[in-house]
Formats: sequence, structure tokens, C-alpha cells
Amino acid sequence: MLSAFIPIAHILSFAFFILAIRGLSSPHTAQHGNFLGILGMLLAVVSVLLLSPITELGQVLISIILGAGVGIYPALKVKMTSLPQMIAAFNGLGGLSAMFIALAEIFSGSASHFDTSIGLIIGALAFSGSMIAFAKLQGIITSAAINFSFQQTINFLLALAIIILCGLFVLMPNINIFISLGIISIILGTLLVLPIGGADMPIVISILNAYSGLAAAGIGFSLGNVLLIITGTIVGASGTILSYIMVKAMNRTLKNVLFGGYSIQKHNSSSLPINTQSAHVGSPQDAAYIMENANKVIIVPGYGMAVSQAQHILQKMAYDLHSKYDVEVKFAIHPVAGRMPGHMNVLLAEANVPFEDIYALEDINHEFSSADVAYVIGANDITNPLAKTDTSSPIYGMPILEVEKAKTVFFVKRSLNSGYSGVENPLFFANNTIMLYGDAKKITEEIVTTLENK
Ligand code: TAP
Repeated sequence: MLSAFIPIAHILSFAFFILAIRGLSSPHTAQHGNFLGILGMLLAVVSVLLLSPITELGQVLISIILGAGVGIYPALKVKMTSLPQMIAAFNGLGGLSAMFIALAEIFSGSASHFDTSIGLIIGALAFSGSMIAFAKLQGIITSAAINFSFQQTINFLLALAIIILCGLFVLMPNINIFISLGIISIILGTLLVLPIGGADMPIVISILNAYSGLAAAGIGFSLGNVLLIITGTIVGASGTILSYIMVKAMNRTLKNVLFGGYSIQKHNSSSLPINTQSAHVGSPQDAAYIMENANKVIIVPGYGMAVSQAQHILQKMAYDLHSKYDVEVKFAIHPVAGRMPGHMNVLLAEANVPFEDIYALEDINHEFSSADVAYVIGANDITNPLAKTDTSSPIYGMPILEVEKAKTVFFVKRSLNSGYSGVENPLFFANNTIMLYGDAKKITEEIVTTLENK
């Protein structure tokens, strides 16, 4: 009975995982996709429990309770803006568990030495790389690129040592070689991520996510566990595709991110040669007046909207403009707005902004020229026209939302400071731009109060 249930449970959980990823590809089906993913995971966990010898059940249950206990707290408490570092930490733990399983397999003496070594190497790279990514994003170490002499040569030598040790271990298995393999892989993972600047970190996290999936798949081969092989491969493939989508959206290449030594250094914004006199400054009341008399308003959210949690009041503003003043309101989302893929879409969905009002860059860019207002809230780099013209700029080549084509552009932010890339935005000084200085949520609240009091 049990022997028939296990393979069926495995097949069902693969199917649920694949359907979950398919569901997550659209906001309309994302919740359903998430649910299917949870169901797939539940089936997988139950089948593992059923496979465990009764004497080990206690151990397995204690591990599950401990793991869930550690995971639930940050998952409930973490702020949306800190999700990238939480994902980095969880990826790292995935890598660490792959390392422990590899070690346990070697001690049990039953595993294929090659498969286990691959699991160990990728797990160690994912573990140390993710920990450095976490430390950079959390501000524990500087988010700027950390470079030193002969970096590439040292990395090359470490990679060579890993290949030689892996070969040696397969030919003459010895625990000291295995441990050295793990230690060198940990050092290489650290050195690979240290020179990557903070702005590229989300891409690196996505790559490390793919690594942790591949590590699980490697371990799956050595354990002969089909469930691990398939789920690990799904994570590996989806992480790789996501990394590719991100580098495309930023007009970069994976090679450039990983080895290019290119890093976006944060300028000290206050030292930028900005003539503060030349920016036009307005009030929320001015903005309310101009927007209620507009035919079309396009809202462009960015990282600052996420920081100030302005999505709910923004939804209210859009609703009031449409229902009370008959203004056509659309939301324009840049693929790398915020700090992680889909950042803005998740926040707008949370605030119940209708999906049909949300447009991707390629579907909305042609509409700015017919818009009366572009309301840019907490966004900066994703609108910077220097990305089109300044070949020396670190954001050169990144497609942008062409907000400057609207009749009036409002920038809601606290200062003239640059965004994540550290590049000054000349649009702040354009004739059709009006700066609304202040916290994104507060300014939008004042606009809504003005709109509602008329
Ligand atoms: P940014 O260019 O970083 O601009 C955000 C702006 O928000 C800042 O200039 C800041 O100006 C403002 N801000 C911060 N807190 C605020 C608050 N409480 N109220 C109002 N404004 C606030 O963000 P973006 O336009 O969303 O662009 C995203 C950047 O991240 C791009 O450079 C992109 O390449 C990079 N990046 C994104 C991803 C993903 S996957 N999303 C991945 C890698 C890199 P003030 O300080 O003046 O308020």
C-alpha cells in the first residue's frame, strides 16, 4: 500500500511544482500557483516522513519543528524591502544543508563519490556566496565592490584546486580531501561575491538560488532521490531564467555581472554638482489641482514607494481621480523597479490595484506622450534619460520609462539625491518637471485629502 503511495505522491508533487511555477507567471494566477506549490511541498514532506524508519521519525519531526520555528519568525516579520536579504539567507541555508547531507553520505559510505562531491562544491559556493550577499544587503559589510590584487588569478587557482581535489577524491576517497574540497569551495564562493557591487546583488542572489537548486539536484543523484533531483533542477532552471531576465532588463550580461569588475559605486549625493535653484518645486495641492484636471495620469512607482509603504494611499488616489474626476489612470512598471523582480507588482496587488491598470514598460512607454501627468513616486534610475545617451554611465543601455514625454512630470521624493545607481537624474531640472519633496506616503495622503475635500 505504502510502496504504491510513495511514487504517486512524488509524481503528484512534481506536477504541483511545475503547475505552481506556471501559475506564478501571471498576477491573475499567482495565488493559485502559490497554493499548488505549498501542496506539492506538503506531499513531498509527507512522503519523506512515510519513508523514514519509525526509529528515526522523532529526529525528522524535531528537525522539521526547529526549521519551521526558525523560518516562520523572519517570514512573518521581514519587511518587503528586506526580502532580498532574507532570500539570500535562506539560499545560504539550502547550500549549507546540501553540504551536511554530502558529509553524512560520505560517512554512511553508500553514495557515489562524484555526485556527492558536486553537491558539496555547489552547496558550499551557494552557502558562502549567499552569506556575503546577505551581509552586503543587510549593511553588515559595505555594499560596494570589494576588490584586491590578483583577484581573478586567485579565483582561477581555487577553481583549479577544486577540480583536482574532486578528481583525487573520486579516485581515492579520503575524508581530509573531502573536507578540503568543502573549505576551498567556501573560500571561492566568498571571493566570487565580494567584488560584486550592491546594485547587482539581486542578480547574484538569483544565481545563488539556482546554485542551491543544483546542489540539491547533485545530492539527489547521490541519494538516488528522484524528488530532490527534479525539484533541485526546477529551482536551478527557474533561477537561471530569472537571472537572465534581470540582466536583460538592466542591459547587462551574466559574465559582466560575475566577472566584469563593473560595480555601481554610490556617489555621495550631497557632493553632486546640483544647482538646487533650477528645480521647480510644487505642493501636494498643486499636484491635486493639475491631476484632477487631467485626462490621463500615469503613475510610476519605485523603491521609495516601497520604503514609505505608499501603495494603499496611491491606490486611493488613483481610485479618486478615476471615480470622482473621470481621469484615466494607469500604472507603469519597470522590470527592475525597486529591489527585486516583481517588487512593485506585489505591493500594488497587496493594495488591490486592478491588474488591468498595471502595464509593463514595453506596453506603456508609447503612452507617455499622450499623458497629461506622469506621477513618479519614489522612483529615480528607471526614468533617467542618461541611460539612453551617456555611454560612460553605469546605467547606460538600461531601458527606461520615458516619463519626460508627459506634459507634466511630478517627482515625489525627499531630495534631489540620486537613486541606487548613484547617477544624477537631469529630469529633476527639466522645464516640465515639478518636484514634490517629502515622504511618498505623506505627499500622496495630502493629495488625496485635497482631492476628497473638493
Ligand atoms: P532608485 O533609483 O533607487 O530611486 C529610489 C528613490 O526613492 C531615491 O532616489 C530616493 O530619493 C527615493 N526615496 C527613498 N525613500 C523614499 C521615501 N520614503 N519617500 C519618497 N521617496 C523616497 O529606485 P528605482 O527607480 O525603483 O530603480 C531601481 C534601482 O535598483 C535601479 O538602479 C535598478 O537597476 C536597481 N536594481 C533593481 C533590481 C530589481 S530586480 N528590482 C535588481 C538590481 C538592481 P530621496 O532619497 O531623494 O527620497
